[in-house]
Amino acid sequence: MPKRKTVLDIQAMKGKDKISMLTAYDYPTAKVLDQAGIDMILVGDSLGNVILGHQNTLGVRVEHMIHHASAVVKGTENCMVVVDMPFGSFQVSPEKTVEHAINLMAHSGVQAVKLEGGTAMIDSVCKIIAAGIPVVGHIGLVPQSVHKLGGYKIQGKTQESAKAIIEDAIALEQAGVFAMVLECIPDALAQKITQTVNVPTIGIGSGSATDGQVLVFHDLVGFTDQKLPSFVHPVANMHQELISHVKTFIARTKEQ
Ligand code: KIV
Repeated sequence: MPKRKTVLDIQAMKGKDKISMLTAYDYPTAKVLDQAGIDMILVGDSLGNVILGHQNTLGVRVEHMIHHASAVVKGTENCMVVVDMPFGSFQVSPEKTVEHAINLMAHSGVQAVKLEGGTAMIDSVCKIIAAGIPVVGHIGLVPQSVHKLGGYKIQGKTQESAKAIIEDAIALEQAGVFAMVLECIPDALAQKITQTVNVPTIGIGSGSATDGQVLVFHDLVGFTDQKLPSFVHPVANMHQELISHVKTFIARTKEQ
């Protein structure tokens, strides 16, 4: 009987074994990642851009996350599954945040939630953890604040902004998150945070000195015709490969 990874397993990996994390939004992809031995799956709100064709993640609702996360959970046995709290579900009040986190956990079967933000979100993070729900933090480039940030830009390039991100990381650790995503910050800053906090850091576009790496699955395998961020080194061009498989089917059909 396989044992699913727990928060204790993930925490114990810090400094010993790098954590691998990819996004999935559906049952067959979840099966592939789980059978390959991934440590963690993130049902990210990148669902909005990657699967639903939106310009950004802001239109994703709690109901969408439950719908997709419950399919992902059914496709996995070994890895930890984390669901993103979408825009609007954790910004109103700590009380409403806990309600949404409980709803996500109860109706999808995931093991943890992730939410964007540092010091500004600490009350909400504490309340969710007090309800018995493990939390992954997410700091640096926080895509739900794309309009405030003026675009998808590297964060923490000035001394002042780097200091604020370190403060975010420390505040999240003190609040009790069991891991944190560091998105698009300078490599040296990610390394410093990784050395400062005792919980695992999982980087995306933040260099290789973090405790693990996360990527959008569709970016990794080139299952997109959009321009990829420069930090993604795709292992395949699934978009073109699938076009050629569909062309084979079309040709086969026409010949019959
Ligand atoms: O939604 C998402 O896919 C994410 C990752 C990019 C970290 O938050």
